[in-house]
Amino acid sequence: MKESDKSYHLNYHILMKNKIFMTRRIPSIAQKLLEDNKIEVEIWEGRLPPSAEELKEASKGVQGLLTMLSDDINSELLESATELKVISQYAVGFNNIDTNTANLKNIKVSNTPDVLTDATAELAMALMLGVSRNILNSNTSIREGDWKTWEPKGHLGVSLKGKTLGIFGMGRIGECFARKCHHAFDMKIIYVSRTEKTLSFPATKVNLDELLSMSNVVSLHSPLTNETKNLFNSENISKMIPNSIFINTSRGELHNEEDLLTALEENHLFGIGLDVTNPEPMEATSPLLRHPKVIVTPHIGSATFEARDAMAELCAKNIILALDDKELITPVN
Ligand code: NAP
Ligand code: GLV
Ligand code: GLV
Repeated sequence: MKESDKSYHLNYHILMKNKIFMTRRIPSIAQKLLEDNKIEVEIWEGRLPPSAEELKEASKGVQGLLTMLSDDINSELLESATELKVISQYAVGFNNIDTNTANLKNIKVSNTPDVLTDATAELAMALMLGVSRNILNSNTSIREGDWKTWEPKGHLGVSLKGKTLGIFGMGRIGECFARKCHHAFDMKIIYVSRTEKTLSFPATKVNLDELLSMSNVVSLHSPLTNETKNLFNSENISKMIPNSIFINTSRGELHNEEDLLTALEENHLFGIGLDVTNPEPMEATSPLLRHPKVIVTPHIGSATFEARDAMAELCAKNIILALDDKELITPVN
């Protein structure tokens, strides 16, 4: 064991009875760290998540849960999981966890901030570039045998250089994405957040109407809350400037998919890039998927080897610390 891992070793006697339920298989570093600390690990091996009933059943009699964003950790489950001390979420967003009930029951909750920030910002960048230059649809045209000759006016996209990027939610990921866009494309950055931020690049805080009416690219990076839910509906989408691009790598519930499609069909938006959909998973028959100006990825923002390994390690460490009554590295409550 590495010197740096030593503090994650618990007292053997405390640990004998500790057991956690991991709702999916994640990189093996997590299981190794937990078992090195004598914590028994039960893993759900299904390709699909446990059902609500299965999850509730598996949560009874364990001291820890290692959860995914697709697990509904509601009050009913928390009430019945009488031995639960910690929920370690394998994601930064934790809108799937009833943290109020967890607080009332003294259950610690942690998430995985920072370690997935660059991965998610890179995916937002990939979607923005992919949409702005018709990467998906132009590739499809080759596969369909449509590439007959070099096209002097075919597949035209929009340039990003010097354009305005509107960040909704200037937090870790929003800032990371904005910084990359500032340096890579000289983009002007404006943002909406409830508080003013100190940033390492020029950026102006604006209100939502200003963001919508000034941005060539609008990119969402806030958490899903009562205030942000369904905010990007027809009323607000209609305020976006003609030929602008909409990117969402935060949570699908922030946008309305019918309204987004209408904006495309009316040639109001240039294109849309979504890593998150409403609902998830998106139906394979969704008309958005057929639209040439849309790129959708299946919620893969943090899906790099580097980020997922770091998330697994952080999740395990938070559980070990919680079961040893120590302060968590990344608590959310
Ligand atoms: P973060 O550091 O907490 O940033 C979120 C920012 O949103 C905060 O700085 C906050 O600033 C702002 N915000 C909160 N409520 C707002 C509101 N009502 N209006 C405007 N801004 C608001 O979180 P993060 O690590 O960047 O992650 C952001 C979100 O990305 C997560 O919650 C998660 O849902 C999503 N995510 C998705 C993926 C993926 O796979 N696609 C991966 C990672 C994360 P103020 O407090 O100043 O308002
Ligand atoms: C992914 O969506 C996360 O919140 O980490
Ligand atoms: C394009 O390939 C060019 O040479 O302009």
